[in-house]
Amino acid sequence: MRIRPTPPVADLALPWDAPVDDAVAAVAAARAEHGDTFAAVSGGDTYLFCFSPTGVDSFYALPEDVANKGVADYLMLRRKLPDEVFDGRRTLPGDLFRKDDVATYLAALDLALDAEVAALGEAGSVDLFALTRRLGHRMGLASWGGPGSAVGPTFDALGADLELLDGAASFVHPDTMRAVAESGYAEERAALERVLDRLGPAVDAAAADPGAHGLLGRIATAWADEPPGAARRGAALDVVLVHVASMSNLNAALGWVLVDVLAHPEALDRVRSAEEGYAARCALESTRLAQRSIMSRHVLQPLTLDTGAASYEVGRGVTIATLLPLTNLDPALGHDTWDPDRWDRHRFTDTAGLGSPRLVTAFGHGRHTCPAQPFSLATMSAAATRLLTSYDVEPGWSARPRPVPAQIGGVARADGPCEVRYRARPSSAATSRAGAVSR
Ligand code: HEM
Repeated sequence: MRIRPTPPVADLALPWDAPVDDAVAAVAAARAEHGDTFAAVSGGDTYLFCFSPTGVDSFYALPEDVANKGVADYLMLRRKLPDEVFDGRRTLPGDLFRKDDVATYLAALDLALDAEVAALGEAGSVDLFALTRRLGHRMGLASWGGPGSAVGPTFDALGADLELLDGAASFVHPDTMRAVAESGYAEERAALERVLDRLGPAVDAAAADPGAHGLLGRIATAWADEPPGAARRGAALDVVLVHVASMSNLNAALGWVLVDVLAHPEALDRVRSAEEGYAARCALESTRLAQRSIMSRHVLQPLTLDTGAASYEVGRGVTIATLLPLTNLDPALGHDTWDPDRWDRHRFTDTAGLGSPRLVTAFGHGRHTCPAQPFSLATMSAAATRLLTSYDVEPGWSARPRPVPAQIGGVARADGPCEVRYRARPSSAATSRAGAVSR
């Protein structure tokens, strides 16, 4: 054990190493048995979990050069995605939020919403989370996939292959990662090659005239010093990493916003009335409730972690982690219920009785706070407002859908189909533009 003094050690396997019925419940049980700080050795890796107020504060304050988030994320995502997706990338998801970028993405969202509303038609039924995933793929590809990638058969084919490349599967379905490794990423590599082929012409167009191609122009410019074949492949791989690393939490979170608003008629009225900032508060609250993120840092240099009850010397190679659903949802504080008015802009205000404000979050704390938070909230607000003002929607479920039990990480994915019936509202023509909400 590379941790001194030795903390309590839980008999805990993580779901990518061994079958686990409910990954969050398993960590909760270990915490109930061992307290707020404990270690676990799973698949040969050592984890130090911390849940105390001081421990969580210390976690968010860890410097990146000694306890690294990027390495921890990579170690997770590489279970699903082959190394060629990561090697040599020149544009990363964190590079997407320059000053004017969000306006570009929201324009793409309007186009994506137009296309999805047209496809939905006047009435019918649809799986809610399948709808939000499609919307997310379309908006992402309209933003950075170049001409033609977000419409027609090219979009259908790209969307289907990008689903096979969803890096989030590493934490949503961790139990399937052994099969991915055993296949040598066969399905993923085949899908990747098809995506690269389909993106090739758009990348070439962007390389020839970067100024006319927005973000894809920027991505292509970063490869301008390479021969055409390598530049085309490199830029298309950048698009793939940006897309698969960024979109699927957002798509899932939008699904939960719709689930929660539909369950609260008064909230539905307030969203439909485009009350200033209200849809964003709904988005924050639904995201908080749906969080299953394991926040982890891979220790690169020996460090000291103060948990309040003790200070631990933690050696290289250990992963320090906390798990949001165990701190976000304290029933004793009423935090397991949905109430958007707990949020004041991006701040959770219902902090009475909380040992530290950092115990509750939707988009993280400290230096790694999600750079896409304003964009994600604007997207969820605009999409929820547009869909719910366009349609009367009747859920096909009686109890709130359940998250995938094995999931550990990211925003919950629904365990099973979540069908809704919808019918166009008579007033929808007047209120259908996504721009009806404040951004
Ligand atoms: C509802 C949707 C989203 C949620 C709930 C979410 C949540 C989070 C959280 C909790 C963190 C901090 C993780 C940590 O400290 O370990 C984070 C970081 C990050 N997110 Fe998001 N995110 C969302 C959407 C997005 C999107 C759409 C993108 C990109 C297009 C994105 C890009 C990033 C990046 C690059 C970081 C790392 C920042 C850093 O290391 O400094 N996120 N996100």
